[in-house]
Amino acid sequence: MTDIASLQTQLLADIAAANDPAAVETLRVAALGKQGSVSALLKTLGAMTPEQRQSEGRAIHDLREAVSAALAARKAELENAALDAQLAGERLDMSLPAPPRHEGSIHPVSQVMDELAEIFADLGFAVATGPEIEDDWHNFTALNIPETHPARAMHDTFYFDREDGEGRKMLLRTHTSPVQIRKMVADGAPVRIIAPGRTYRSDSDATHTPMFHQVEGLVIDRGIHMGHLKWTLETFLKAFFETDDIHLRLRPSYFPFTEPSAEVDAWYRVEKGRRVLGGSPDDGPQETNPGGWMELLGSGMVHPKVIAAAGLDPEEWQGFAFGCGIDRLAMLKYGIDDLRAFFDGDLRWLKHYGFSALDVPTLSGGVSSSGVGA
Ligand code: PHE
Repeated sequence: MTDIASLQTQLLADIAAANDPAAVETLRVAALGKQGSVSALLKTLGAMTPEQRQSEGRAIHDLREAVSAALAARKAELENAALDAQLAGERLDMSLPAPPRHEGSIHPVSQVMDELAEIFADLGFAVATGPEIEDDWHNFTALNIPETHPARAMHDTFYFDREDGEGRKMLLRTHTSPVQIRKMVADGAPVRIIAPGRTYRSDSDATHTPMFHQVEGLVIDRGIHMGHLKWTLETFLKAFFETDDIHLRLRPSYFPFTEPSAEVDAWYRVEKGRRVLGGSPDDGPQETNPGGWMELLGSGMVHPKVIAAAGLDPEEWQGFAFGCGIDRLAMLKYGIDDLRAFFDGDLRWLKHYGFSALDVPTLSGGVSSSGVGA
């Protein structure tokens, strides 16, 4: 009897200590299998006297019951624990907040183009486009820059080594001014357009990239004069920089396609080492009012030869035009220092200076944007 009791104690302890289903199975075979210790005891029942069977036999049956129950319980326990562990490992907490996701952003150049379209739409200007691969008639000749003109050499033009069907040299447009010609040829007069887009010159340093962006403005109508030009530029720049504190200077200049021509400078102040548009030279001497004139754009009254080249009568139609660097506008407005970084495609730069796609510039809501991060 003590043998049975101590075997039970031992077996139950072993079963409790088994820590995986395979160990439980090994114990089961060792106790209840054909050669098992409990099975061996059961085999002794046949040789027992009825009295022995009453006492010892009962104990052996109880032992077998206890051991099978313990094995089944331990097996279930271990299987449940294994399932729990697996479930815990595969758990997904659907209530956790979604991880941050970079959604892509609007490049400052695109942002400024959108702002320009919005500002000029309010002044009645449509947006026009033209090809970046141009011919030398649209890019130069029709703009009163004949073959021998020194301005052609000044443009550092990228030429293709082929001509179009009409024997015109093909090139990457050096400015957006050929869109003036294309617009007048296509639609006649009157005209009120801006033409933003890519332009190309073989020039590369800290402030020049071989590809850059310009916006062209063109107004053709009857009785247009320099006053219209000046008002339009002032209105545009005040809306763009969102301040009335803009002081402009029209400086006589020369472009073959405008006569008279003027370069437009704006006064800037130096704030924390940075140039910021605003103020005027009348605010005080340099020591207390550090600042200067910054060239913003080229402009003028469209040359009668250009109007005639585009098929209109210059006696009837006059107009003004201007051309302005978009990258420069973006740098000034959004405090970006390095032009070359605009076109590196560095994701960190794009995240930092990019604008939310949902933050569309509108005159009513504000043409500038606070940026993606804000
Ligand atoms: N096309 C000129 C440039 O690229 C700018 C300009 C445009 C000047 C229209 C006058 C009128 O420098």
